[in-house]
Amino acid sequence: MKGVVLAGGTGSRLRPLTQIINKHLLPVGDLPMIQYAIDKLCQGGVQDILMITGKQSAGLYVDFLGSGDAFGVNLTYKIQEKPGGIAQALALAEGFVEKGEKFVVILGDNLFQDSLQPFIDSYNQQAEGAMVLLKEVEDPRRYGVALMKNEHIAVIEEKPEHPKSPFAVTGIYLYDSTVFDIIKSQSPSARGEMEITDVNNVYAASGILSHMLLKGWWIDAGTHESLFQATLLVRKEHS
Ligand code: DAU
Repeated sequence: MKGVVLAGGTGSRLRPLTQIINKHLLPVGDLPMIQYAIDKLCQGGVQDILMITGKQSAGLYVDFLGSGDAFGVNLTYKIQEKPGGIAQALALAEGFVEKGEKFVVILGDNLFQDSLQPFIDSYNQQAEGAMVLLKEVEDPRRYGVALMKNEHIAVIEEKPEHPKSPFAVTGIYLYDSTVFDIIKSQSPSARGEMEITDVNNVYAASGILSHMLLKGWWIDAGTHESLFQATLLVRKEHS
């Protein structure tokens, strides 16, 4: 299976740090944030990886990661010209992912403890559709929130003011190449972004969005507070 890491976007919630360097190159413990996604993919048996970055700091990704050789992976790079949303960045993976192929996507600011292996194995058994990984959280308002019906995801609400469940949709997604046609059928949301939640809701409406739960810790390191928490978690894990 191939992997895609999304590392574009503005990182506005981490200003002023992200005025000088792209979010995914900021330090988390001993490593730049981006290395955690690459390591997780490699440990999950995913070696063929597409890195999608914005123009900001693009050269620094190559400086650090190079061909991927030093990290046990084979990297391809693509540039998202302007941050137009997660689904817009994901659309750039068409071609890298060929027709009929399955792949795993990680948002570069998502750090987590679980191995990807069981999720990949399970998705490989799935006949059609997509899979999202959920994590029960105390305050789901910052995330996509999965509304469950009969143990299935009925719909995902993006950053709801009044969440109807404690299950955050993490930035780890498993798709096949049908996702590119779904993205093409979508329009930007009210905030002007191509939303991954809209894409996932197309699968949910057809009853082909499966889910699994992360058992270990998970963090979206996209704010100052969560970046600090992420550092504590990885230092604890690697000490
Ligand atoms: O972390 C999980 C959450 O990530 C989900 O629960 C939400 O449903 C999902 O929309 C997303 O929410 P965020 O507000 O955290 O997304 P953010 O704009 O921070 O983007 C997350 C990553 O996606 C970021 O690390 C880089 C990448 N990205 C984002 C945008 C907007 C791109 O590559 N290009 C983009 O244009």
